[in-house]
Amino acid sequence: MPKKDKPEDEQSQQDENSSVAKIAETPTNSQPIPVDLTEDQANQRVLDLRHQLEYHNYRYYILDDPEVTDAEYDALFRELKALEAKFPELITPDSPTQRVSVGGVVSEFPKVVHEVPMLSLSNVFSPEGLAEWNERAMKYLDKRYQFEYTVEPKIDGLSVALLYENGVLVRGATRGDGITGDDITPNLKTIKSIPWNLKYRDNSNEPIPTRLEVRGEVYMPISAFEKLNKELADKGEKLFANPRNSAAGSLRQKDPAITAKRPLNVFIYTLARMEGGPVLKTQWEALKFFERLGFRVAPDIKLCKDLHEVATAVQNWIDRRDKLDFEIDGSVIKINEFAIEDRLGFVGRDPRWATAYKFPAREAVTRLVGITWTVRRTGSINPLAILEPVSIGGTTVKSATLFNIDMIERLGLRINDPLLIKRAGDVIPNVVKVMDERRTGEETPIELPTHCPSCGAPTTRRPDESGSNDPKLYCTNNPFNCPVQMKDWIFFFSAVRGVDGMGERIAHRFFDEGLMRDLGDLYYLDREKLLALDRFGEKSADKLLKQIEDSKQKPLSNLLMALGIPHVGVKSAEMLANHFHSLANLEAADVDTIASIKGMGRVAAQSIMDFFQNADNQAVLAKIKAAGVRTEDPIEEDGGPKPLAGKTFVLTGNLVNYGRKQAEEMLKRRGATIGSSVSKNTDYVIAGAEAGSKLTKAQNLGVNILDEEAFTRLVQD
Ligand code: IVH
Repeated sequence: MPKKDKPEDEQSQQDENSSVAKIAETPTNSQPIPVDLTEDQANQRVLDLRHQLEYHNYRYYILDDPEVTDAEYDALFRELKALEAKFPELITPDSPTQRVSVGGVVSEFPKVVHEVPMLSLSNVFSPEGLAEWNERAMKYLDKRYQFEYTVEPKIDGLSVALLYENGVLVRGATRGDGITGDDITPNLKTIKSIPWNLKYRDNSNEPIPTRLEVRGEVYMPISAFEKLNKELADKGEKLFANPRNSAAGSLRQKDPAITAKRPLNVFIYTLARMEGGPVLKTQWEALKFFERLGFRVAPDIKLCKDLHEVATAVQNWIDRRDKLDFEIDGSVIKINEFAIEDRLGFVGRDPRWATAYKFPAREAVTRLVGITWTVRRTGSINPLAILEPVSIGGTTVKSATLFNIDMIERLGLRINDPLLIKRAGDVIPNVVKVMDERRTGEETPIELPTHCPSCGAPTTRRPDESGSNDPKLYCTNNPFNCPVQMKDWIFFFSAVRGVDGMGERIAHRFFDEGLMRDLGDLYYLDREKLLALDRFGEKSADKLLKQIEDSKQKPLSNLLMALGIPHVGVKSAEMLANHFHSLANLEAADVDTIASIKGMGRVAAQSIMDFFQNADNQAVLAKIKAAGVRTEDPIEEDGGPKPLAGKTFVLTGNLVNYGRKQAEEMLKRRGATIGSSVSKNTDYVIAGAEAGSKLTKAQNLGVNILDEEAFTRLVQD
């Protein structure tokens, strides 16, 4: 869930700019409170407001599809609060205002005995293990069944039991030891996605169960966990090791007002018991039933007809693991049919009818051996943690990113510190926190370099150009006087120009061996000299020279991007090229002209001016031009028909037959404008495979969505 991680009355102004804020233009129904309002009228209005708020809460927290802006929601909420303040007798325990702080501070949580014990799950770690689990289940039944299975994400949080009587939440408890847990109802009531009252969202008039107990997992979204840890670090407080710990810490607060401030969420996954509701025969039906009653159920749960389908669904979760905003440590596979589940029963504390397919661990504790400082083309000097090698999920990890010096200070890092390291996907691992309790006293402070490790110039501290507030350490020299900056710039330039043969190591080597002193030299590399280099074969040389030759014809926007001008990214390079059409025009432009281009800021305009006025840069550009590199784009239109003129397209996901750039070009040639984010001004969204939030947004906004086939038809002629 993206935002709303604060109680409503703390929602800030920024909501007005949020993506949600753009969704609906529904005028808010909130009103100023008339002075002479009678209690009767107030009561009517209070009921109406509660009804509206409950509905919008459901749209936002359960369906992830809000109908009103956050600001509008907050206005309704404030109106209700004000009315309740004026007429306190109208406050009821189930008013949405009571979510923020229900009950008072408790000294001990009351105990709850789970009538249906909260059990654990057996684990498997491989497809073979899964097949063995399946085989055991079949053997137990003494018959070869063709089971159906559900495959669910195994959320890494805390399991809770929620009890509803006649549709009203009466108790929420932790798992405890599975038999006895803690009654944490006031805390659970602060979680917005836990319904207080059940009703069929499809307006069915089936009976609401007289007694219903569901189980689910409370978790903290990863983004919220990271934000929380950053805030704790800034205050010098102890960090949480992972989202699970922070969810546990938040849920066990004795003061529900603190829990209310923590952005917890829930997925419901099991029916523990039910009286007086519809007959449910399968787990799949139960999950659908939960959704209909307004519970939040994990996305993309699959119903599988055989183990092969199960394996595919599990693999899907493994592949998506790093893209989710909630931690999963595996998949849960359940035999779908309750009748079979009942017959299978339990072995010890684990059901025979379900198992957890555990994914490889991604965390480990190791020691910080030292820090290496790497200089980049922008002059930033970045710390890399050198670790005592440790195996995480089968890969040996020797280093971790620290992002910036601020992080060293925030984490309070010292050499020799025991660190919790987390590896996600293929990217270089992160340092999560220092395991304070494992410090030995051998730790020594980290000294920040006072001089650039590349050129020896003094270092300075300032915010980085991305606009984030985190300060970085910078070399005070420019790339022409700082070898590593220049090497990294050469590498960057070559990579953007599509010269793949110029990897980082080669770029450094060419510089060190005197073949290149700056970017411009890329276009003067000599075959003979390349071949004279140790271990540089003819094939590599020819391939490299061909790529360099081809790069000369790249459009102007590519050249502008490759120059690495501070504050000029892909989009602004395109805007500059579209506006000026040639490098010469851009070089001749003044700050005001550049800043007047829509979407281009004054800071970027000044940075562009500074770049072109620098004599060293001018010399590089002269070399580039003299080598015959294309520095202008044709102005005249290609003359073809422009059937898509005036239409804005946004692309998302992967197309099978077209690269992203290629598809954009094809649309542009037909007159279309390409947008980077979906809004109500978007005419079409082209959605390829694995399309993400842009697609969801387009669906929410009712924007036309085209698949690859439709796209092909569109650009055929
Ligand atoms: S079903 C009889 N489904 O995993 C066991 N559990 O190791 C019923 N969990 O304590 C549990 N996601 O905290 C189930 N989709 C899911 C789950 C899930 C996470 C947790 C739960 C349980 C633990 C079992």
